Amino acid sequence: MSETHLYPPSAEWQATAHVKGMAGYQALVDEAEADHEAFWARLARELLSWKTPFTKVLNDSDAPFFKWFEDGRLNVSYNCLDRNVEAGLGDKTAIIFEADDGAVTKVSYSELLARVGTLANALKAKGVKKGDRVVIYMPMSIEGVAAMQACARIGATHSVVFGGFSAQSLRDRVNDAGAVMILTADEQQRGGKSLPLKAIVDEALADGACPSLKDVIVYKRTGGKVGWTEGRDAWLHDVTANLSATCEPEWVEAEHPLFLLYTSGSTGKPKGVQHSTGGYLLHAALTTKWTFDLKPDDVFWCTADIGWVTGHTYIAYGPLALGGTEIVFESVPTYPDAGRFWQMIEKHKVTIFYTAPTAIRSLIKAAEGNESVHPKRYDLTSLRLLGSVGEPINPAAWEWYHQHVGGGRCPIVDTFWQTETGGHMITPLPGATTLVPGSCTLPFPGITAAIVDETGNDVPNGQGGILVVKKPWPSMIRTIWGDPERFKKSYYPAELKGYYLAGDGAIRDAQTGYFTITGRIDDVLNVSGHRMGTMEIESALVSCTELVAEAAVVGRPDDTTGEAICAFVVLKRPRPTGDEAKAIAKTLRDWVAKEIGPIAKPKDIRFGDNLPKTRSGKIMRRLLRSVAKGESVTQDTSTLENPAILEQLGQAY
Ligand code: WTA
Repeated sequence: MSETHLYPPSAEWQATAHVKGMAGYQALVDEAEADHEAFWARLARELLSWKTPFTKVLNDSDAPFFKWFEDGRLNVSYNCLDRNVEAGLGDKTAIIFEADDGAVTKVSYSELLARVGTLANALKAKGVKKGDRVVIYMPMSIEGVAAMQACARIGATHSVVFGGFSAQSLRDRVNDAGAVMILTADEQQRGGKSLPLKAIVDEALADGACPSLKDVIVYKRTGGKVGWTEGRDAWLHDVTANLSATCEPEWVEAEHPLFLLYTSGSTGKPKGVQHSTGGYLLHAALTTKWTFDLKPDDVFWCTADIGWVTGHTYIAYGPLALGGTEIVFESVPTYPDAGRFWQMIEKHKVTIFYTAPTAIRSLIKAAEGNESVHPKRYDLTSLRLLGSVGEPINPAAWEWYHQHVGGGRCPIVDTFWQTETGGHMITPLPGATTLVPGSCTLPFPGITAAIVDETGNDVPNGQGGILVVKKPWPSMIRTIWGDPERFKKSYYPAELKGYYLAGDGAIRDAQTGYFTITGRIDDVLNVSGHRMGTMEIESALVSCTELVAEAAVVGRPDDTTGEAICAFVVLKRPRPTGDEAKAIAKTLRDWVAKEIGPIAKPKDIRFGDNLPKTRSGKIMRRLLRSVAKGESVTQDTSTLENPAILEQLGQAY
């Protein structure tokens, strides 16, 4: 630790933050340690409004299927909208929406409540009921957030699918969830281009591929031409016309599934992570309050897409539950140029800014190549806090973010968490924690994060191991939709003593006990902060049955995207080289984009007559990882069936 810079919180931060100084942090940790359930119960009463107060806190009788606040009833949309209006915030801006072309639309809490009420009535009129699943395949928009809130209002379980996923991915998710409706848009507008959404929905639903699906509701974003299926498709503006804006919230049990969100795991099939209503909303609100220190005058900007969990917790729910003002941004950080983020911070006087290391790294590159998009060209003095999420942030990027974006005065909260955890797990609190670049520091109060070995025994600080959470917490994943066995196997393996297995490796600093995440310990890659399963990409490649005989996918480090996808492919035809190899590599990339989405395109493709296997037929993945990195192979290759192919695999296309 001696060479790293330490950034203690300023006296002002310690005095004014929601959690004041290390003493404030420690008091909360002690409170949770003394009585885990009483701690969470107190906060659930303080932060949420309950229609029926809960009397039971944690039910662990069917562990690991934990239940929190199970006899309480509440409604998420009531908590995010009505109660803010009732508290006198009706005219306060809830969302500042900035479109691709820079046009700004603001909605107040009263207006958002009315939109959500109207849309909720429209869903009801279409027959959507409590417990039905509704897929949302929409661009970043006020309508997208309203769609999520409207589902919550009537107790429908939403499943947002990122707008970059292909028809095939969308179809799989609709079918796995058994969704009755898709909310979508004609097109999305990003970086000056219109990209189809409705056309992809049509393709996903073609030939009766989704038997559960009855209705498609289309928000007109661009006015581009779309296909139409009578009886199934309806325009959002038509179904909401003349409907009342008042919709009585459906008061659901705390355990009622608020949403499913599909994410990648170690096997080929994405899993539908199921979240609850009460416990999830509690952590969304609490982490927004303590980690982001959200205050009434803040302008909060989380740059994530609503298609990812970060956009759920820190756009659709957390800031609204606290009556905050937030930005929703339609476009990309590089349009019209790489100064867009900085220009928007200046324009909207953003105070809290939360983004991913990949974005920071690519904006560093852009700023180094072009002075005019350097953050110093903009007035960023409104900022008071910065955040990072999705992947480890390397110290150099951290320092740049701190100095050039935060002006040396804004703490950076490096928040470690996952789709499955619902909200922050290990993170600095800005008025308490001394920051160390590259470390997500200490567990959030009430989160019993620890590092253990393969048998669940604690490992000493300074020694790496497996990241677990020892006790259940309110916003944890409840199950994998339709596959409780997979839930148990993935997150509560028998050998880990009933601890939650995060799937990441970590190490704690010998002196400070600070956590540093060392990367996934399973077959999950993190590319630009997006989770991708290697098996998922392998399945996509081998489904190209005309060309591909066999494929193996591994990750390699990448300066900008964190990790890059490398595919090793054996074709059903002789191994190509030169231009032919380039052409086939392009075909395969396009194929993967069509199967999963452009984010899953392999960066490198390498062709071999075979894949390196042991004599017992196991693919030698460790060896492939070395090859992918461009390392000279020093491993013992004597067990390799055909050592000659290592040379073939040396060439990437
Ligand atoms: C990684 C995103 C290091 C980690 C919220 C985790 C991080 C996976 C950090 C979850 C961080 C997320 N430092 N690694 N601050 N945040 N990760 O489900 O590997 O898309 O398991 O959730 O991202 O990705 P997911």
